[in-house]
Amino acid sequence: MYVCICRAVTETVVQGCIADGARTVKDVVKRCEAGSGCGTCVGKILALLGTGASEMSSSLQRSA
Ligand code: FES
Repeated sequence: MYVCICRAVTETVVQGCIADGARTVKDVVKRCEAGSGCGTCVGKILALLGTGASEMSSSLQRSA
């Protein structure tokens, strides 16, 4: 199942990124580009990362 439509990245690929050491959305973007388009999939990526809304909040604060 696709997580990121913009970059055609599947859940399996994102899980592979996490297994490879990705701990943040930024890490996932670097590895497979999921989340680097419209941003709609960021919530799904966060769910896969297991960090939920608190990580999203801190990610937004870091990028501001
Ligand atoms: S759906 Fe992932 S960036 Fe648009």
